[in-house]
Amino acid sequence: MSDLHVPDSSTLLQQPTRAKATAAQPGHFAGKVAIVTGSESGIGRETARALCEQGASVVLNGRNPVRLEQTCSSLREAGFLVTSCVADVTDYADCQRLISTALHAFGQLDILVTNASISMRAYFADMEPEVFRQVLDSNVYGSVYPLKAALPHLIQSRGSVTFISSISALNGMPSGSAYCAGKAALSNLAHTLRLELLDTGIHLGVVHIGFTQNDADKRVLDATGQPVQIAHRPPRWQKTQVQVAHIILRHIRRRRQRTVISALGHLILLVHTYLPRLGDWVVRTTLRRMRHFYE
Ligand SMILES: NC(=O)c1ccc[n+]([C@@H]2O[C@H](COP(=O)([O-])OP(=O)(O)OC[C@H]3O[C@@H](n4cnc5c(N)ncnc54)[C@H](OP(=O)(O)O)[C@@H]3O)[C@@H](O)[C@H]2O)c1
Repeated sequence: MSDLHVPDSSTLLQQPTRAKATAAQPGHFAGKVAIVTGSESGIGRETARALCEQGASVVLNGRNPVRLEQTCSSLREAGFLVTSCVADVTDYADCQRLISTALHAFGQLDILVTNASISMRAYFADMEPEVFRQVLDSNVYGSVYPLKAALPHLIQSRGSVTFISSISALNGMPSGSAYCAGKAALSNLAHTLRLELLDTGIHLGVVHIGFTQNDADKRVLDATGQPVQIAHRPPRWQKTQVQVAHIILRHIRRRRQRTVISALGHLILLVHTYLPRLGDWVVRTTLRRMRHFYE
């Protein structure tokens, strides 16, 4: 039903919906166009929804066409301006197509949130090298490639880039080596790019997310690359996905360099900076006494 040209119909899932949606919502992001990677589920989906609620047109992304279509339909039925693109963000050609989707559907690009990620539950000594590479790739190239493809357009719009990271990147976490290494790399990347791109007016920031409620079907990789449930996290320590999404939006609105979510995140940052040995002692002690916390 769309009158818009779509670059590659074999891999683009949903046609742009500009023609169908009634009108953009008013709000802080009215008139802005955003891409949220890995937004078929979880925090990415709620971030996309929150951006829509504040007026943005949003390109959803994921690898699972069925789930992506469900998410896209539910947002479209709510009257939001959304489209979607099936793309693996560790593949540069896919990322170029993802950016083209935004430009073809909405004519510009203002906001990129690199949220897609694979997580893990495995100790380094047990891990297949290929699993390490997969997790690292999704967390590093899964941000590098979309940004590289989007950069000229974001510079043109003096836009905003947010890398979604984790509080586990602040100090490292047993059973999360590749994940923590990948997320930690994003902080340095953001810092370096801020220096390189100082004169462009582009915003580059990192959000370190703490424990958050997960979709029931969320899976992470074990040492052999099998999908398994994530380790137990005390529910009272978790924020909701909606709460996290609103914190991400505030971070974008204020063009912050770094946002650390949750009291635990701030404590880790403080201890890691000023009392690193105490931090290591706490992790080693919890690893001995609360191993289920990591496994
Ligand atoms: N939940 C937490 O407690 C927590 C804590 C700290 C940080 N975070 C971070 O927050 C972000 C969202 O987490 P979440 O809990 O919402 O996870 P999630 O539910 O697993 O969502 C991640 C999404 O990314 C997609 N994805 C993975 N690799 C992809 C790729 N190569 N190309 C395109 N899409 C890909 C996944 O789809 P597939 O089904 O195709 O894999 C999934 O839809 C992640 O960056 C995560 O590291 C979460």
